[in-house]
Amino acid sequence: MPEIWKYIAGSVVLGSAAYSLIKYFAGGVCECPTRLDGLLVIITGANSGIGKALAIELAKRGANLILACRNVKSGLEAKVHILQEAQNSNIQIHVKFLDLCSIHSIKNFSENIQNQFREVYALVNCAGVFYLPHSLTEDGFEVTFQTNYLGPFILTHELIPLLKKQVHARIVNVSSEAHRKVNANDLRSVTLQQNQPVSPFVSYGVSKLALILFTKELAKKLNNTNIIVNAVNPGNVETAIYRHFPPLSNPWLFAIQKPIRTLVVKNPKQGCQSILHALLTSNPSTGQYYSDCKLTLASPLASCDQISREYYRVTCELIRWFPEESEC
Ligand SMILES: NC(=O)c1ccc[n+]([C@@H]2O[C@H](COP(=O)([O-])OP(=O)(O)OC[C@H]3O[C@@H](n4cnc5c(N)ncnc54)[C@H](OP(=O)(O)O)[C@@H]3O)[C@@H](O)[C@H]2O)c1
Ligand SMILES: *[C@@H]1O[C@H](CO)[C@@H](O)[C@H](O)[C@H]1NC(C)=O
Ligand SMILES: *[C@@H]1O[C@H](CO)[C@@H](O)[C@H](O)[C@H]1NC(C)=O
Ligand SMILES: *[C@@H]1O[C@H](CO)[C@@H](O)[C@H](O)[C@H]1NC(C)=O
Repeated sequence: MPEIWKYIAGSVVLGSAAYSLIKYFAGGVCECPTRLDGLLVIITGANSGIGKALAIELAKRGANLILACRNVKSGLEAKVHILQEAQNSNIQIHVKFLDLCSIHSIKNFSENIQNQFREVYALVNCAGVFYLPHSLTEDGFEVTFQTNYLGPFILTHELIPLLKKQVHARIVNVSSEAHRKVNANDLRSVTLQQNQPVSPFVSYGVSKLALILFTKELAKKLNNTNIIVNAVNPGNVETAIYRHFPPLSNPWLFAIQKPIRTLVVKNPKQGCQSILHALLTSNPSTGQYYSDCKLTLASPLASCDQISREYYRVTCELIRWFPEESEC
């Protein structure tokens, strides 16, 4: 074979290998054609990363949006960007202040929404923090635990009445594969000893495990109602969430690793596909865990009925809230 053909054959093989790898890391794509014209979706943390990318995709599909942000200025900038990208002048976007680190703010936000809107199609609990150093919120809870878990827990319950007014409604909790990296002991100690510093990776993993346990428990409570509830793993996505994570918080290291990340880490648009899928799919499954737009098994701990039931009760005690059976 002449030399030149070897080179050509070699590059074709390498090229297609690289292409398959890139496709592999880009993950699943939501192919549901469903539109959400005129329906209202609340997204927490919609000013940044995965939440903002999701907002653009939903705006293209006709949904009206509430961007719930702790930084309203950044939320208003995101709104401009989302409207530009979506090119859809028929939708409305509202930016509202919400700080998940404050129960007062969560209640104030929910009251406001209830006064202003009659029904809500979906709530996406997307806001989250990763690798923050240990500290306590104004309510006395560990900051990652409250932002990623307790805050969404309270917000979800406050908004259920509005979700119930819609014929079909959905809740999506954005979890993470990190939920597999913690055990029952971690779950117990982080939950019951909020002021005891633990590794930020453990508190993140626990918050995400707790979110899946709740997804399961809430799905049981809301079974045979109009509301479908699921948890989603977005995958590894290039966003601001890694700003506190030492291997990525150094700007030099971050820049040097950039070419590798471009290949193996999703961009936010790729990262929001599984959430989009959980919102649009005609599959009526509830209480499940989606990864790469497919139903996936969560960890055995996250799948245990007895633990999810007990953990729901412990959470209610933690926030001193005792729901009537009829409230869920
Ligand atoms: N990126 C990944 O690889 C990855 C992997 C698995 C799971 N996830 C999950 O995906 C979700 C979205 O993260 P992202 O990667 O898109 O990160 P991001 O760009 O940092 O977005 C996180 C959002 O949460 C908001 N937020 C943080 N604390 C808040 C609080 N107390 N009250 C209200 N909003 C608050 C942030 O607001 P500010 O802009 O004001 O900080 C921001 O809008 C998170 O739940 C995360 O755990 C991400
Ligand atoms: C309560 O809601 C109002 C109306 O949206 C808002 O102006 C105010 O800043 C909120 N207060 C708190 C503490 O969240
Ligand atoms: C989402 O997680 C919260 C806990 O943070 C829980 O209260 C709620 O039931 C969950 N919702 C769904 C749909 O999983
Ligand atoms: C919901 O109820 C149906 C039967 O009506 C049952 O098959 C299903 O397992 C239940 N799902 C959950 C999450 O409890």
